[in-house]
Parts: sequence; C-alpha cells; structure tokens
Amino acid sequence: MKLTDAQLAEFDETGYLFFPELFSADEMAVINAEVPKIYTMRRDEVWRESDGDAVRTAFAAHTYNEVFAKVARHPRLVEPVMQLVDGPVYMHQNKINAKAAFDGDVWQWHQDYGTWSRDDLMPEPRAMNIALFLDEVRPVNGALMFIPGSHKLGVIEAGHDLLTTSYPLWTLDKQTVSKLANENGIVAPTGKPGSAVVFHANIVHASPGNISPWDRTIHYLSLCHVDNHIRRFKRPEFIAHRDFTAIECLADDCLLSEVAVAAE
Ligand code: SIN
Ligand code: MN
Repeated sequence: MKLTDAQLAEFDETGYLFFPELFSADEMAVINAEVPKIYTMRRDEVWRESDGDAVRTAFAAHTYNEVFAKVARHPRLVEPVMQLVDGPVYMHQNKINAKAAFDGDVWQWHQDYGTWSRDDLMPEPRAMNIALFLDEVRPVNGALMFIPGSHKLGVIEAGHDLLTTSYPLWTLDKQTVSKLANENGIVAPTGKPGSAVVFHANIVHASPGNISPWDRTIHYLSLCHVDNHIRRFKRPEFIAHRDFTAIECLADDCLLSEVAVAAE
C-alpha cells in the first residue's frame, strides 16, 4: 500500500492518518478468532488490569501465535510505516490492548517516543505505531484520542507514572495537555473492525476508561527504522524487542491463504 502525496502532507500536518476498513470482515474473523485464545493464556506477556483479572494488553503475540505472526508482516500495515520512516523497519513492540467492556482502564496522556527515548534510548523518533481496530471503536468505548499537530513539539517534559495503571508510562501534566488541546483540539477516530490508524511517535495521545458494554480491542505494531534501534535493554525483551532484523512483508492475501508462517 503506497501513501499518496496528499496523505503524506496530511500526516506531516496532523501527525496521524486514518484508514477506514483497511482489512475485510473475512480477514478480521481470522484475526479475531485468535484473541480469546491469547487472552486466556497465563504467561508473562499477558498483563491484566491493576484492579482485577481483565486483560489490559498481550505483548509480542507475533512470537507465539501464527496469525499474529502474519499480521506483523502484513504489507498493508508495514509498508505505510516504511514509507513514512523512509526505509526498512523492525518490530520494536507488539501488543493487543483489550480495553475490556466495563473494566478497561485509561491510558494517560503521553507520547510514545517519550517512553522509547527515556527507557530504551531509541536515538530518534524514526518509529511509529500502526493501530488495527479488532473491535469497532466507538465514541463511547474508550477511543484513542489524539492532539493533532502535537508531533511537531519534540519530546515534552513528562513524569514517570508507575502507579495509576498496571503499565508504567511517561505521562504529560494537566497544564500541558490543556494548553495543547485548547490550541489544536482533540480528535478520536472511530470505525469498524479492520480500520487502522498510523500515528507519529511524538503525537500526544491517550484513551479514557471503557465503562460501556462493548470491548475495544486494538492491536499495535510499533515499527522502528532498523538504523534507529534501541541502545538500552532495560525493559523486558517482550516489551522492547532486541531483534533488529528488517521485516519482510508477506503477500497481501496472507491472512486468507494457507501460507505457513512460524511464530518466532
Ligand atoms: C497506547 O497509547 O500505547 C495505548 C492506548 C490504547 O490502547 O488506548
Ligand atoms: Mn501510546
């Protein structure tokens, strides 16, 4: 999938691009059949919310599930990021965030590169997330919120929040977020399963808790230019990967074909 000049200009201005229904219902059925199997696993990679048993996120499923191994090499997800960072990419992080109905907790306001630079010593924001909606993302079930244009501000001062949720994060203070949001607004892309959003490593984003009766599962590939690999291995391997091999994409129809892909 090749981004057009208009899309590149939009990304440059806003820091994100939304692709409604990038994957078909048949493809999403293949992917979604795997999620309950992964969420019932008791393994280090599967994290639960701090105040209960609901799954918060499953890390690195591409290393232990063959369908997610395909998604991790899917050209519709990987190629736009290769175009935006201008070269080959490796998988820095891979997670399936649940945000379960009624129980899904917040993700505080943050920049991804704020964490990747401070914790992992990633040299530059030459990396980004592409998020694939596994459930429908609605205005009321904990949609991702972005402050457009905030990616142009570099790394903003942040505090290391180790307490609020089960996931440690470098988070922005209320004053900073208020100022940015009052200047630029907040957007929250919503859409059917199979929709995707790619966003700049420095865009300020968050998501509220999910008190609705609808799950809001989103899968994230965090892809980094191979030359920009992390320099510090402080976090566990399954959170900040140490295999900097360039991803080789599979065929566009890989999810619906019999091609065998070994999870690593
Ligand atoms: C993230 O920003 O890393 C996750 C946010 C979410 O899934 O709501
Ligand atoms: Mn994030």
